[in-house]
Amino acid sequence: MLVNTPPMGWNSWNTFGAKISDKLIREIADQFIKLGLDKAGYRYIVIDDCWSELERDPETGKMLASKEKFPDGMRALADYIHAKGLKFGMYSCAGVKTCANYPGSFDHEFLDAETFAEFGCDFLKYDFCHKPAHASGPLLYRRMGNALRASGRDILYSICNWGSDDIWSWARSAGAHMYRSTGDICDNFKSFTDIAQSQFEKFCFSAPQCFNDMDMLTVGMFGQGNVAAGGNDLTQYKNHFALWCIMGTPLMLGSDIRNITPEILTLITNQELIAINQDPEARPAFFAAYPPHLKGKCVVLAKMLSNGDYAIGYFNLTSEVHATTLYFDDMGFPFASGYDLAFRDVISGEDLGLKRESLIQRLEPHDCRVFRVTPVKRH
Ligand code: GLA
Repeated sequence: MLVNTPPMGWNSWNTFGAKISDKLIREIADQFIKLGLDKAGYRYIVIDDCWSELERDPETGKMLASKEKFPDGMRALADYIHAKGLKFGMYSCAGVKTCANYPGSFDHEFLDAETFAEFGCDFLKYDFCHKPAHASGPLLYRRMGNALRASGRDILYSICNWGSDDIWSWARSAGAHMYRSTGDICDNFKSFTDIAQSQFEKFCFSAPQCFNDMDMLTVGMFGQGNVAAGGNDLTQYKNHFALWCIMGTPLMLGSDIRNITPEILTLITNQELIAINQDPEARPAFFAAYPPHLKGKCVVLAKMLSNGDYAIGYFNLTSEVHATTLYFDDMGFPFASGYDLAFRDVISGEDLGLKRESLIQRLEPHDCRVFRVTPVKRH
């Protein structure tokens, strides 16, 4: 399976937790099409934890879909999702139980991978709770990596071990297409900024086929749902989405998209932001400005794009107004290069025109600005 750009989709956990059902997932699929999320690039609809019965089938040993939540079974649901041109994702765990105490795949990896293939599953999120102490985490993830490949179906493998065991050093070799590098996100400013800050410098291992996953987005939750913890406002969600885009991490929505506001829909379908995330070269962002006294809370991130442009994001993660200067020399464009830089704000659409040597941006607390920047040779 080829996964050339960060996967995009929706996952049930952030908003719904255990409150999932066939009806809900079908409504989400309908909503994908109604809102045009598919056209914006979102493809995977992933059911997280709590989808199964508490016991395996006593005869076959297979996992069983909850009769109450999914009375028609998983295959029918997968067919419904596929008929809309979307992809279907599911969840299991490398331990004996999932994090919410449903059966895990420990020692059942190959049988479960076959079951997921029979369900018509295209994506497996594979968690890390209840792992027997004697078992090696990396080995268990390799087992499931092998099992998925042996299943005969193309299944995107999403490892979720929260960054333990130096995940970045072996996830790719275990067959993963994305690997969770942090603990669970919750819906407030501190949570997503802590996560982003912890990964600013860890993206050198993230590349086509295997992407660093900073967790599902909380954008648009506004303090409602399973991981609600105070919520964010629109400015903060803009910051959250922009960080995920420029850092090149998977874009898995986590809000109840059946009740989305127009502003959030505009944000998550912003084609210029998504193009930065989905750039085919998938180069990591680097610090173009890092005022040391602000310890990574006010930064300018820059990312080379495949057509010769750059994405440049100014991020204010503090609760005060800050002005940050980007000196073009710090991203390898000294005055002597003979190039000026043309700035276009991809969120507001404002064209700032050509800038020479530096650009200062004054940002309100928690605000950000993201530009698409084109080097232009001076006459
Ligand atoms: C862990 C994962 C979460 C979610 C829950 C489900 O905490 O990190 O993303 O899948 O388990 O129980």
